[in-house]
Amino acid sequence: MAKILVTGGTGFIGSHTVVELYNAGYEVIIIDNFANSSPKILQQIKAIIGVELEFVRLDLCDESKVTEFAAKYPDISGVIHFAAFKAVGESVQEPLKYYKNNFYSLINLINAYKSSLNLVFSSSCTVYGQPDFLPVTEEAPTKKAESPYGNTKQIAEEILQETCKVSPSLNVISLRYFNPVGAHATALIGELPIGTPQNLVPFITQSAIGKRGPITVFGNDYDTADGSAVRDYIHVVDLAKAHVAAIKRLEGAQADSNYEVFNLGTGKGSTVLEIVNAFEQSTGEKLNYNIGPRRSGDVEKVWGDVTKSSKILGWTAELNVDDMMRSAWNWEKYLKDNPF
Ligand code: UD1
Repeated sequence: MAKILVTGGTGFIGSHTVVELYNAGYEVIIIDNFANSSPKILQQIKAIIGVELEFVRLDLCDESKVTEFAAKYPDISGVIHFAAFKAVGESVQEPLKYYKNNFYSLINLINAYKSSLNLVFSSSCTVYGQPDFLPVTEEAPTKKAESPYGNTKQIAEEILQETCKVSPSLNVISLRYFNPVGAHATALIGELPIGTPQNLVPFITQSAIGKRGPITVFGNDYDTADGSAVRDYIHVVDLAKAHVAAIKRLEGAQADSNYEVFNLGTGKGSTVLEIVNAFEQSTGEKLNYNIGPRRSGDVEKVWGDVTKSSKILGWTAELNVDDMMRSAWNWEKYLKDNPF
């Protein structure tokens, strides 16, 4: 059984990916330092798959610990690297915290394996800024990042691309996520925002359950069907399955180049008001919302061209916006009865 290391494996996308890797027959080792997740997620994963996975508590910024880890586990056949900070607002307040954490961890990992590694990297559609053409393809130029967080994704992609050019044993796939939402069908894992959620769907579910007041829709004067901003929302379980497809591609050495990039979205955009409506329709819950000003740094509309992922990775998103809303709501209700 091929062994896959998942860094940040107790986080939102990481935990769902761990489950899909296990379901696909992989042996999984998780690294996390719980900087933005809970140790309880390990029990939740066990409750889903019925097996306790190997776990190592480690801060990937600690170079000597990462080197020790690589010496102990020389035989991993791939790494999916999720461990990173991701809060846009916090990154503006504390840029060095973001640059240090997101770069040191990536560099330590590659160095520890002496640039001989199959690596899947978590990138973001944020690298496109407001694209000139929609749907945006992987060939679209990247735009100056709006935040240090976004900049860590852009620069990390460059670090990987440049390192791949001189390291024939380093094989990397960068996955550019659109807007990951939803939760596992068992409602045992999902997103766990710290404090007030900044992202739309966790705010919606917390508002509906009574933890927060009404939602504010950030802007209704955009050039879109109803004036609210458009994003390509993707179910986290679909996203998790794309990581398994990326690992398979790296294992099969099918790539044309040792550095590849793929968009992961559904290829369809939804406005904020469409998401609010989908939540109400699919859960039967009523949402209160206000219209507020635009949020600074937001783009008007973005959705992905997913032709390349479909043709080359053989992966397509299967779940729709109603599935995303229902599963996110079931998770919020689970959390109410089973607080973390
Ligand atoms: C945000 C980040 C992006 C990151 C992504 C994943 C910003 C500017 N961008 O994307 O870099 O990769 O999360 O975590 O933060 N909205 C409301 N009311 C709310 C919350 C959101 O109307 O209370 C709107 C936003 O204006 C946006 C849409 O909902 O139009 C989605 O917002 P969000 O979930 O925060 O994701 P992004 O901003 O697209």
